[in-house]
Amino acid sequence: MAQEHVESMLKVEEIFEPSKDVIERAWVKDYEKVYKHAKENPETFWGEIAKELEWFEPWKKVLKWEHPWASWFVGARCNITYNCLDRHVKSWRRNKAAVIWVGENGAERIITYDELLRNVNRCANMLFDIGVRKGDRVTIYLPRIPEQIVAMLACARLGAVHSLVYSGFSAAALQSRIHDAEAKVVITADCGYQRAKCIPLKHIVDEAVKYCPSVEKVVVVRRQEPKIKLEPKDIDWHEGMAKASQKFEAVEMDAEDPLFTLYTSGTTGKPKGVMHVHGGYMVGTYITTKWVFDLKDEDIMFCTADPGWVTGHSYIVYGPLLNGATILFAEGAPDYPDPGRWWGLIEKYGVNILYTTPTAIRLLMKYGDDWPQKYDLSSLKILGSVGEPINPEAWLWYRKVTGNKLPIMDTWWQTETGMILVTPLPCMKLKPGSAARPFPGIEPAIVDREGKPLPANEGGFMTIKKPWPAMMKTIYKDPERYSQYWKTIGNVYLAGDMARQDKDGYFFFMGRADDVIKVSGYRLGTAEIESAIVSHYAVAESACIGKPDALKGEIIKAFVILKQGYKPSDFLLDEIKKQVRKELGPIAIPSEVEFTEWLPKTRSGKIMRRVLKAKELGVEPGDVSTLEE
Ligand code: PRX
Repeated sequence: MAQEHVESMLKVEEIFEPSKDVIERAWVKDYEKVYKHAKENPETFWGEIAKELEWFEPWKKVLKWEHPWASWFVGARCNITYNCLDRHVKSWRRNKAAVIWVGENGAERIITYDELLRNVNRCANMLFDIGVRKGDRVTIYLPRIPEQIVAMLACARLGAVHSLVYSGFSAAALQSRIHDAEAKVVITADCGYQRAKCIPLKHIVDEAVKYCPSVEKVVVVRRQEPKIKLEPKDIDWHEGMAKASQKFEAVEMDAEDPLFTLYTSGTTGKPKGVMHVHGGYMVGTYITTKWVFDLKDEDIMFCTADPGWVTGHSYIVYGPLLNGATILFAEGAPDYPDPGRWWGLIEKYGVNILYTTPTAIRLLMKYGDDWPQKYDLSSLKILGSVGEPINPEAWLWYRKVTGNKLPIMDTWWQTETGMILVTPLPCMKLKPGSAARPFPGIEPAIVDREGKPLPANEGGFMTIKKPWPAMMKTIYKDPERYSQYWKTIGNVYLAGDMARQDKDGYFFFMGRADDVIKVSGYRLGTAEIESAIVSHYAVAESACIGKPDALKGEIIKAFVILKQGYKPSDFLLDEIKKQVRKELGPIAIPSEVEFTEWLPKTRSGKIMRRVLKAKELGVEPGDVSTLEE
């Protein structure tokens, strides 16, 4: 990045000091001191935190690190659900609300810790009865309803590995994920609601499992009347739950036993099954939820993500429940039935922590200040942002409309990292657009291609030097792909993001360095979209890029070469978009499609998307020495 540009960005930086009452209330009051302690004694630091949770057997060693393989809490026995549920049910929290669920139509369900445990036990028994055992994979393709949380916890309780697939993915995308996981059971619903439209999830599952021989049973949550017909393979969720016992002891797991896989996009066409385990993931999500959001027992946390993505796993389900908090869990869109929906929920339930994405903030900002001003938002204490860089304008608006005094935690992390790695803590000063500093115990470095650390304000590759507890264990069935994260640049973890650090050590994230696109915070790979486009009969070749967009962060632009005999037309354009919808789902549809007769390639035939992007943005393409004539 040109130096003048960096300097002009620095000039617009404003600094917000934390208020006295925020510091007084915060779990961590002196970031530097805690960071130093964690850096000097990482095993003691993580071990002390782990002791706040309950283990069936303690660890023999906090960390065994044999690059690139890490084992955390070696020899310990635990089950994450014991800490999410039993630990609270044994205490005064037994009748505390664990989940407040609201449907799009205003329906409400309040589930206490005791009730949640009983439901999870019933579900674990139901799954056990249909043959699910420790180590088996279960795919969960559900909308944002309490059953989604119950199903996840039930799998974990009996030692099965859950694999959630976001309910916006198509049958083909679902099928490839079920297939890779070799799931024994799929759990779905008849319908998910989005802006009053019913997404027929069960139909999509029927399409997907036709070609998945591993699937023995499909469990269906039937929400609609009249009830949809079930196939011989299907089991009705409510009937199964009614028959099942509400007692099920959490299966004792090794701290390193798998908890879940979550498929995420990389630079190849095939999504990778990022695998997390019971012990380390539990410790990492527990403490980041507590410290970053200054979570207290009396708080209600509203994380607007979908558990189909990692934010929902870590900061709707596991992190808050490990802390015994109350979660507000809402189905539907932020602006339906009107743009006051989320503000109204905050007022109605007295939400204390709001954690959402920059795209959602920009969408609400578009509707103007009148909507938030209609509601009493005084219960809010901490705000959070995640999934993509937040531009200072959106940051300032988010702060302004919520009372102009709340700390905003711009949290940087990934599916692979499991937990937040770079973030402010409430006691720290804030700079709009900056994710601030590393969480205690995390040692990042911004480096060049050779791994050399870069000076302040120079953009480079984001890396992490040492392992952390909630890091992925591996990529399911592909350990080599896991190793690549730690072997591409030096011996450090390569995140795939570009970032710079200012003189105060504050991180500013600049987007992905690879062929991953973030559309509205959703992570997609260019190769996946390209292969969906090329599967259309008229397409010879395609290349996709992420193009900056004021609302969505990035949009997908596709360049398409047609096969001989086909001419560009609106009909084909529409057909290509439909093909992407069919192969991947609506979130992956390119906003722009340009027919072309040429794509820039290296002499060895690799498409140079970087050159296409530079041309699109009207900037210099950088090194083009490998470009074919
Ligand atoms: O590019 C970074 C971006 O999201 C990527 C990870 O995507 P995913 O695995 O889907 O997880 C999203 C939720 C954690 C990162 O490589 N990203 C995430 N948070 C931020 C961010 N970019 C800038 N600022 C953030 N706060």
